[in-house]
Amino acid sequence: MSTPQKHIEHILQNIFQMHHLDSSFGALKISDRPDLCDYQCNGALGAGKALKKNPIQVAEAVMTDLKDQCPELTITLAGPGFINIKLPNGSLCQYLNDVVPLSFDTQKRKIIIDYCGPNVAKPMHVGHLRATIIGESLKRLCRFVGNEVIGDIHMGDWGTQMGMMIYEISLRYPDLPYFDPHFQGEYPKQSPVTLDNLQEMYPIISAKCKEDPEILEAAKTATVELQQGRRGYRALWQHFVDVSVDDMKEHLQKLDVDFDQWFGESRYQEKIPPMLEVLVAQGIAKEDQGALILEVAEDHDKAPVPPLLLRKQDGGFLYATTDLATIEERVKAFGAERIIYVVDGRQGLHFEQVFRAARKFGLQAHYDFIGFGTMNGSDGKPFKTRAGGVMRLGDLIDMLIDEAQTRIEEAGLGKDLSPQELRGIAEKIGIAALKFADLQHDPIQNYQFDLQKFMRFEGKTGPYILYAAVRIQSVIKKAIEAGIEKGPIQDVLLDEERDLVLALTRFEDYILRAYDKLSPNILCDYAFELAQKFSRFYQSAHILNEPDKAIQSSRLSIAEKTLGTLQTLTDLLSISIPEKM
Ligand code: ARG
Repeated sequence: MSTPQKHIEHILQNIFQMHHLDSSFGALKISDRPDLCDYQCNGALGAGKALKKNPIQVAEAVMTDLKDQCPELTITLAGPGFINIKLPNGSLCQYLNDVVPLSFDTQKRKIIIDYCGPNVAKPMHVGHLRATIIGESLKRLCRFVGNEVIGDIHMGDWGTQMGMMIYEISLRYPDLPYFDPHFQGEYPKQSPVTLDNLQEMYPIISAKCKEDPEILEAAKTATVELQQGRRGYRALWQHFVDVSVDDMKEHLQKLDVDFDQWFGESRYQEKIPPMLEVLVAQGIAKEDQGALILEVAEDHDKAPVPPLLLRKQDGGFLYATTDLATIEERVKAFGAERIIYVVDGRQGLHFEQVFRAARKFGLQAHYDFIGFGTMNGSDGKPFKTRAGGVMRLGDLIDMLIDEAQTRIEEAGLGKDLSPQELRGIAEKIGIAALKFADLQHDPIQNYQFDLQKFMRFEGKTGPYILYAAVRIQSVIKKAIEAGIEKGPIQDVLLDEERDLVLALTRFEDYILRAYDKLSPNILCDYAFELAQKFSRFYQSAHILNEPDKAIQSSRLSIAEKTLGTLQTLTDLLSISIPEKM
């Protein structure tokens, strides 16, 4: 069943068409003057221009037709030709009372979402955080509207940095069997290095490689040998992957994020040479001064788009080569019809090149690049630790949970809880604070990390949303304990009650808008709106001491609908609501 907004919009579109005008003039939007009307259509202005007619005349003609078809609507003309529409309470209540299973009228596709993208042997840091939070929410949203969705972590587990680490370990522990070319036995199950060791080594060897060309050469050789499958190196590399994946899983579990595919760049290395052969044979890629390139410039380009470098002079493959091979598998083997990348916005050109190359290669899919901005510190620069280093994800998460716990205690909440319960709730609040702070912005925007602000119990924050939801839970519980049963929503509504009911009828509209734009911030706006409107509703529309039984039951239903909607929204944002707070 379509929402009230979609229903009226559809009728308006037909009316414009009947007047030989483009149906898009019938677009209906949520009113910015809710005191005057619920929805407005501004199409008569554009239509008037197109027809060289007074927009007011066009609006009046449309209004007459609309009135004929929907006599129940209150339709008024405003300004130079705006059509204002208000629905009767009865239609709003009826829409909510008719329980129909959700089904979204969108094209269902097989989608792969590539997000998080952590790197092996390096700690996960705040840069990976945004990719993870936004990607997880988009994955849930795409699934919710009915697509088949695969989430792939696409780890950075290949490349020169792996050879660098192997070389550094060979300097430190030359006697390990991994370095003995004649070793035939089984390598130890236990990794000779921990993730902490690797993280300590990485900046050291990376600096040495920059300073000393000989060391760089040795690291490159190790990389080549790893690529060629040298047994000991492969075994060592597998340890790097294993210790890193354990750590990633631990962080991701705290963030309530999971993946269907734990693939990494290494998976594609064997697939690259045959792919390049085909690209050359088909004349898509060509040799250029010993390198292999793929031209992707297009006539309409405003700024030059350089060719994609697929193979360097020294024979090495690049980040882009791996991405192209990844797309080939995703489209051909997994049948992806749409691929969504959630990656730092600074990689925009890279993905533009890769998508173009993929299309030239005949890999037909819908490609989206959600290039997000940075999370900045109070100095407006990418967020750092106090000491100026990169903040590790684990430290950031702990900081959030500690702050949440302090806030709960300060607010005098949670006194009857055991220390474990309190910590559990602090975990939910801390993570919710961060996720909501991140997701409430359009992904492309930068935003500032502000622990105090994120953690407020009032205003547009995660804790506020959770608090509102917990409060509704307890309101419902009390009503049920008092023997109140839910019943149909009654069309006699107080103003605050109508505001909430109207907002509840917009659930599917908001979901579709968020999906259409791949913008979880639209879900945040809606969750905040509902939380605020519930609070106003509850101040005036009492449940327990309302004498009219039918109204009592109606209000309980409204509370339950609000809670259900908030639960769905928070779930789509991957935020979990505690039992109590
Ligand atoms: N590992 C990369 C990084 O840390 C992100 C990977 C993004 N995904 C991709 N298919 N390239 O920047």
